[in-house]
Amino acid sequence: MSSNKDYFNSKAELWDNIVDHDLKKVQRIIDLVEIKKGDKILDVGTGTGVLIPVLQACVGDQGQITAIDIAEKMIEVAKRKFDYSNVEFVVGDVLEKGVSDSDFDCIICYSMFPHFEDKKAAISTLAKHLKKNGKLVICHSQSRDAINHLHQEIPGPVQEDRLPSMDILKQMFESADINVSLEIDDEELFVIIGLL
Ligand SMILES: C[S@@+](CC[C@H](N)C(=O)[O-])C[C@H]1O[C@@H](n2cnc3c(N)ncnc32)[C@H](O)[C@@H]1O
Repeated sequence: MSSNKDYFNSKAELWDNIVDHDLKKVQRIIDLVEIKKGDKILDVGTGTGVLIPVLQACVGDQGQITAIDIAEKMIEVAKRKFDYSNVEFVVGDVLEKGVSDSDFDCIICYSMFPHFEDKKAAISTLAKHLKKNGKLVICHSQSRDAINHLHQEIPGPVQEDRLPSMDILKQMFESADINVSLEIDDEELFVIIGLL
């Protein structure tokens, strides 16, 4: 049976043509995160790296970005597009030793959280990679309904992948000792930010 990883590998070369990111919304989300110069960021499920230039502009040359993806072909495309000296690309499962650092200022799951199988465990594992007062961000530049409907329409391994409700996510953040500091759940965006 085909896996999530196989699915995203098969889409990597075409990803930038099939996915239409609204860069104004992406920028709005990143502005809400209030990333500082010099911050160390983990971009989870970077795909072809849509967030990378936006994050790079925030952290500056003194900052660090680790861009991880389980699908190696996504990372191949991202590497071809971006050549910043402070961006490290990692192929691996973020929940399975893909990263070892535990001092990120911010961990961002942009447009990827529905693909974790055990979402509560994912949040508590990601929290272990944050420094004290670090931020965990789960975000989408679409509404929750739109994302869940989109997945439902794609036959194959992502068909059952769902973004939980804001209330469920808040409970998951709280059980990982992360305090929710911002939530947006409307027709335009879905964003939850929490502080460890
Ligand atoms: C819907 S794509 C989004 C990619 C990118 N963030 C974007 O918005 O264009 C989800 C990505 O998450 C990756 N992914 C899924 N589960 C992962 C995991 N456990 N660890 C790392 N990456 C993962 C997939 O391979 C895929 O590239």
